[in-house]
Amino acid sequence: MNYSVVIPAAGQGKRMRAGKNKQFLELRGEPLIIHTLRLFDEDASCEQIVLVANQDEIETMRELVKQYGISKVSAILKGGKERQDSVRHGIECLTEDQIVLVHDGARPFITHEVISRLVTNAMKHGAAIVAVPVKDTIKRVKEGLVMETQKREELWSVQTPQAFKWSLISEAHQKACEHNVIGTDDASLVEWLGHEVSIVEGDYQNIKLTTPDDLLFAEAILTERERKR
Ligand code: CTP
Ligand code: MG
Repeated sequence: MNYSVVIPAAGQGKRMRAGKNKQFLELRGEPLIIHTLRLFDEDASCEQIVLVANQDEIETMRELVKQYGISKVSAILKGGKERQDSVRHGIECLTEDQIVLVHDGARPFITHEVISRLVTNAMKHGAAIVAVPVKDTIKRVKEGLVMETQKREELWSVQTPQAFKWSLISEAHQKACEHNVIGTDDASLVEWLGHEVSIVEGDYQNIKLTTPDDLLFAEAILTERERKR
């Protein structure tokens, strides 16, 4: 089944402390966003990529897309204040009867195999997300004191991509916007509508480049993948 993907890249990258949007940081000589875009450009089931960028970075993004020969970008749209606003802009420019993926521009290591399982699940359930079991014990803490220890076997660390039938994610984003509901991921808006969300087990290498440490992990992952090729 073919799909469209919305890629939010309109953040500031504050936690990366690079003095610029982390999407433009280079990994092996190529901007982070290009690594992510190329993955979907080369995924046979991906029909189109909607890229969401900061207003004053749209032109730079357009030039990079051209320079690196990324062919499936159908639109580069202006982002919003929150990630959720950026994603909504992307969803609004798509149309009915399709599976839509939402994937962070800052997550360059997703694999074709996981994408394929995710899309199959989204068709069946309407909504599906990639996640991995948490490795650490998670405790709820208030003012420096432990309130509760969570059951680890029930906890999953959630990543992107997240995949949805367009009608469902479109309704979720529209209603959330009307009611000023902000979720930390897109699936939580679908959950808020009362709809089921299926979990697809992914892998631990699908990291989001968030803090400077993540650049070290990214280098290690790239080295391993080059060795395997
Ligand atoms: N994003 C977006 N629009 C926003 C905020 C974030 O499109 N208003 C995008 C980012 O560009 C990133 C993804 O959402 O690809 C995940 O967000 P995050 O990792 O938090 O990136 P930033 O918001 O850029 O980083 P920070 O929170 O450290 O400033
Ligand atoms: Mg952010």
